[in-house]
Amino acid sequence: MTAFASTLDQAYRVAVEAALEAGRILRWHFQRGLEIRHKGEIDLVTEADVAAERAALSRIQGVFPEHAVLAEESGEMDRASPWLWVVDPLDGTTNFAHGFPVFSVSIALLHEGQRVLGVVYDVMRDELFTARRGEGAFLNGRPIRVTRTPRLEDALLVTGFPYDRQESPLDNTREFVALLRRCHGVLRVGSAALDLASVAAGRLDGYWEFRLSPWDLAAGALLVEEAGGRVTTPQGDPLPPLGTDIVATNGLIHAELLEVLIACRAGLSKR
Ligand code: IPD
Ligand code: CA
Ligand code: CA
Repeated sequence: MTAFASTLDQAYRVAVEAALEAGRILRWHFQRGLEIRHKGEIDLVTEADVAAERAALSRIQGVFPEHAVLAEESGEMDRASPWLWVVDPLDGTTNFAHGFPVFSVSIALLHEGQRVLGVVYDVMRDELFTARRGEGAFLNGRPIRVTRTPRLEDALLVTGFPYDRQESPLDNTREFVALLRRCHGVLRVGSAALDLASVAAGRLDGYWEFRLSPWDLAAGALLVEEAGGRVTTPQGDPLPPLGTDIVATNGLIHAELLEVLIACRAGLSKR
């Protein structure tokens, strides 16, 4: 086994443990929060995601102290390393804060700028999505595949809206309406990592979103690719290692979805 393969093997076990541990912490805070949420939603969430991130990072850094880390709550720990962990300890904060049980932990590992490992844990459904580059994608250990839906008009899609949507004209509402008219439906689940995991698992046909953060989508993007799907920017270019704008589909509806997004953007810039 090469040094790369053995690091990846160990990293896979560590990422799974870190995600499950962070998930246990989130579950505990979520259940406890249902009783005390009215006392201060924001603090409750901050406490939960900071605690979950601390647990995940201590697991990762305990085994790989020399690896670089980019995590939502602690920022970037820039070490000279080809390995970069990208961590969102709680994806779906708004759902969490409102007591809606749909949120996840997202952990990705990049090697020299390439996504090589992705783990997304759906905390309340106890569903663990995993992928390693070149080895397929799995849900609780069973292989998953994207759908075979051939046309956009038969597709069920999912999207999300940026946090600055009250100020920015690039708020995704135009795209949302245009696509709603072209397919079976457009969901808004509230966790980018779970949106991507759902495309990978063949539960949804496609997903797009703008102005995310790298930790929202790094793990999920690999899940989709490894499940046989396609991932690009909204312009159709390859997704950069720390990309923030994404289109992810079963591959078959990708061109049609891109076409609608590009037309919306062209219309917006003409106004
Ligand atoms: C958010 C979720 C949501 C997406 C937002 C993200 P957070 O992450 O992924 O689905 O629409 O743009 O910021 O803040 O819950 O970690
Ligand atoms: Ca988060
Ligand atoms: Ca997030």
